[in-house]
Amino acid sequence: MFNKKKAAAFVGFALLALSVEALAENQAAPEAEAAKTAEIRKALADPSLVEAGKKSFIKCQACHMVGDNAQRRVGPPLNGIVGHAAGAADGFPYSPGMRKANGEGLFWTVEKLDGFLKTPREIVPGTIMAFPGVPSDEERKAIIAYLASYQPDGSISTEPPK
Ligand code: HEC
Repeated sequence: MFNKKKAAAFVGFALLALSVEALAENQAAPEAEAAKTAEIRKALADPSLVEAGKKSFIKCQACHMVGDNAQRRVGPPLNGIVGHAAGAADGFPYSPGMRKANGEGLFWTVEKLDGFLKTPREIVPGTIMAFPGVPSDEERKAIIAYLASYQPDGSISTEPPK
């Protein structure tokens, strides 16, 4: 006859196996993503793209700063954001949605950042970034190149990162 205890043990084991697998995936992801991001950062360090992105960043400046002594405004400072974990600026009061994304290991690869700048709420449900998004693919690419030129310490480098 079918044994309830055995069934429960089996379900428990299956859940454990699933969570171990999820853990392994989470641990492998950041390194792979970082390598991928480094590649794309190199490709995007194109001076004319960076220049175009600088102009478009005017759309973001009411809420975001980059560069030396960048402070938080309505949004967090964005130095070194390309390739960085999402929702991780020190002391910034992120929305529950962004904190959840951070907890789930969201990483600002070029691809994710591109999606976020296109339709913020699709990538981070519940984000409080009150911004409709940038519809033009080229413009988003330029903005990302501009952001990629800011190192985590706020210095500018259009050289490929070491
Ligand atoms: C009206 C203010 C506002 C504007 C305009 C705005 N943002 Fe934001 N942004 C925010 C806020 C607030 C957050 C934090 C969102 C949260 O906690 O859900 C944020 C978060 C972000 C993040 C994630 C930061 C992190 O630490 O993970 C990125 C990247 C970003 N914004 C880029 C941009 C770019 C690029 C533009 C311009 C194209 C822009 N934002 C325009 C307010 C704004």
